[in-house]
This record gives sequence, C-alpha cells and structure tokens, in this order.
Amino acid sequence: MKFFIDTANLAQIKEAQALGILDGVTTNPSLMAKEGIKGHENILNHYRAICDIVDGDVSAEVLATDYDGMIKEGEMLAALHDQIVVKIPMTKDGIKAIKYFYDKDIRTNCTLVFSIGQALLAAKAGATYVSPFVGRLDDIASDGVELVAQIVDLYRFYGYNTEVLAASIRSTQHIIQCAEVGADVITSPLDSILGLLKHPLTDSGLAKFVEDSKKMNA
Ligand code: E4P
Repeated sequence: MKFFIDTANLAQIKEAQALGILDGVTTNPSLMAKEGIKGHENILNHYRAICDIVDGDVSAEVLATDYDGMIKEGEMLAALHDQIVVKIPMTKDGIKAIKYFYDKDIRTNCTLVFSIGQALLAAKAGATYVSPFVGRLDDIASDGVELVAQIVDLYRFYGYNTEVLAASIRSTQHIIQCAEVGADVITSPLDSILGLLKHPLTDSGLAKFVEDSKKMNA
C-alpha cells in the first residue's frame, strides 16, 4: 500500500519524506488556502516546491468547475512537473475532463467520491486514482471504510487499473482499516501516519533495554 501525505504544509511533507516511507502528496484548495497560498504564480511555485521535496505523485486540484476551465487548468498543471497528477472533482464535466486527460496520457485523481456508482464512472473514464472520502462519510453516520472495500472489490472484479486512494483519513485506525480492505493508497495527515509507530509495550520494552544496556557498559 502506498502512503501519501494529505497536506500542503512543506515542513510536514519534509518530515514525512525523511521517514523514508512516503510515496506522494495530495492537496486540495482548502489545504492550500490553510498555508496562505494565494495567486497564480504562488500556487504554481508551491506545487514545484512540493515536487522538489518528494519523489512520488503530487495531486494538484483544478479550481475551475466547468469542462473548458478544467481542461485549461489541468493541462497547465500537468505541464508544470511530471510528478503532478491533476485532481478533478466527481461531476459530469469532471468525468468528461478525466476521459480527455486519459486520452492525452495525463494522469488524474477523481476527488469527492462518496458512492460506488461514482467510483465506477471514474474508472470507466480512465482516472489514475479514485478518492473515496472516508472521514466525511463517517461524519454523516455512513461507513467510509465499507465504501473503500466495495470499490476495491468492484475494480478487482472488472480488472480496472484505477487505484483506490482512501482520502479524508482522520485517524491511525482509518489507515489500518483501509489497509485491511485492500486500498492501493491512503492519504493521511502526518499525525495519523505517526500514530502507527506507537505502542506502550514498545515504549516500556525500550526503556527496559536502555536500562539494562547500562549494566552491559558497566
Ligand atoms: C484529499 O485528497 C482530500 O481532499 C482530503 O483527504 C479531504 O480530507 P478532509 O475530509 O479531512 O477535508
């Protein structure tokens, strides 16, 4: 399973990259705005800076919501760096844009996916990644991990190449659950990734080893 970090914060991206387990980055307009990134040139420079830090795929979302706007913006983002994956919302125009980019060999991430039917359309259109939003489904008393499992099964049944990218991860437990149902990728905030490191028996075991190692040096 690939690990992407879900942030536009350069310090956190560097910290995750330094761990040696990072496969890519996802951003969205909310995450970019949170970092105070404004204006066309600053947006492009920020994506360039992210691509310089990581080796893997970097999802950059179009701001346009109409077909022509998505095509124009997506082509510009794709030309920016070969690591860029154009992130396109799950709409009628979005599906048309994903098919257009598929035919041009430009990679896409279909975002804001909340149902199996939407995931089916994204794969049919040739999306490189499909992003079911786990946490936002849980927020409305639905089951985000169950949707990830359904999409994984459907894609395997039909042999679609689209990778299932579990997004809107809110906890370490979400990462584990998405791994267990066969997600190809999870994109997560840094703290949920770091949560995978933690176990009290590791801490107490290491404390004992450190204590006993002093006897060995005596
Ligand atoms: C990433 O691709 C998504 O935009 C992101 O995971 C959404 O996360 P949120 O639901 O926590 O905003």
